[in-house]
Amino acid sequence: MHNKADTLILFGATGDLSQRMLLPSLCALDADGLLSDELHIVGTARSELSDSEFRNFAREAVEKHLPAHRRGGMADFLNRLTYSQLDVTTPEGYADLAGKVGKDRQVAIFLSTAPSLFQPTVKGMADHGLADANSRICLEKPLGVDLESSCAINDAVAAAFSEERIFRIDHYLGKETVQNLIALRFANILFEPLWNAQHIDHVQITVAETVGLESRVDFYDDTGALRDMVQNHMLQLLALVAMEPPSSFDAGSVRDEKVKVLRALRAVETNESVTGQYRGGASDGVIVPGYDEELGSDSNTETFVALKTHIDNWRWQGVPFYLRTGKRLPERVTEIVVQFACVPHSIFPGARLMPNKLVIGIQPEENISLSLMAKVPGIEHEGMTLREVPLDIAMPDAFTGKHKRIAYERLLLDLINGDQTLFVRRDEVEAQWKWVDNIRANWEADGKAPKPYSAGSWGPSSAIALAERDGVSWHE
Ligand code: BG6
Repeated sequence: MHNKADTLILFGATGDLSQRMLLPSLCALDADGLLSDELHIVGTARSELSDSEFRNFAREAVEKHLPAHRRGGMADFLNRLTYSQLDVTTPEGYADLAGKVGKDRQVAIFLSTAPSLFQPTVKGMADHGLADANSRICLEKPLGVDLESSCAINDAVAAAFSEERIFRIDHYLGKETVQNLIALRFANILFEPLWNAQHIDHVQITVAETVGLESRVDFYDDTGALRDMVQNHMLQLLALVAMEPPSSFDAGSVRDEKVKVLRALRAVETNESVTGQYRGGASDGVIVPGYDEELGSDSNTETFVALKTHIDNWRWQGVPFYLRTGKRLPERVTEIVVQFACVPHSIFPGARLMPNKLVIGIQPEENISLSLMAKVPGIEHEGMTLREVPLDIAMPDAFTGKHKRIAYERLLLDLINGDQTLFVRRDEVEAQWKWVDNIRANWEADGKAPKPYSAGSWGPSSAIALAERDGVSWHE
């Protein structure tokens, strides 16, 4: 744990992430009284802006991306902001930045710039006394495109910041609902005794999106669904589902347990993964073009991936984990389905006993649903007629009056307060890349090309077959 930061430097302060997420999140934290009075926020970017122009920029960003009831006294928030023009690749601007920060400050630095700029930025700050023991740094994805490039980024940052001062963001960990998964598992006795290969048949993790390429043509086409979603968000969800109980809820204990899972992931065989690319179709009731049409050229980049993996340890031996994610799927939904084993012996002749299922809905709404077998009321039939019924908990109903927060609110607050629990450690990122690199190498060796699927469908039919050949249906 670190001291509270009294200065936050935002690199890339006029960029897209800053506008959509960072400035609105900081304003919301301020409105809720969660920022200390001393906190000073310095925005930096290449554009030439005065402090008041940057404040206007921030006001517009907040008005566009934060609901009015969450903005509070925006004037106080805007007064915290100053601006320092800086081209991170040249040494000149750093002196101005260091002057704006001042001496003996506890500094949190947020790099929301292209990773190619991390190395010069870190060096510039180190040369100007901004990377001393009183400062910590937060990095946004993408942290590389493979293990090698990720190590290069990590090495460059490690040249000036020790690991306990590096905060790597995976914004899924900032989602309330993802943290609730930790509460569900470790604040209840109910599930833990059953949370193993003896009682769980399989696990499914789905992250489905309705959006297509949006405006991120170059980034996405160089990245694809495996690296964009599976390498980070989905593996973090998987690690939280599968990890052993940490001895306490602190950064070291939680991350020690997650990394053990990531290292125990079994390599995926080529026939255990399916890739797809959307063609034109209907999404949310609107006719949308195909990926290649949006891109303006042919491409081999996957916009969908489904795969099966295992975790090679005692707890999970023999339990398949099915993962799927894609763009232009029929609905926006992130959920984890834990399907339990069937009862060992049925005493209800003729009844089809469905296995219990725990469905953890992460977005758009947070709900937890446990399917149980129950007797259908009535005396017309001999014996019992049974049916599956859900035991549902809708979190928004359970906690009325609590507003939905942007994931970055939690993460920015933790960065300012110096708590690394919900940030990703270097060994985790590297274990994630190692597993993903192996999948990509197999695809390349086998000349695997993405299969077309219509926008608005659940991906190529082979994704359905991937689960069905094991007698498993994707939860819909
Ligand atoms: C980002 C990916 O990390 O996560 C995007 O780069 C994706 O492609 C986004 O759309 C999904 O995040 P969320 O919070 O909307 O589920």
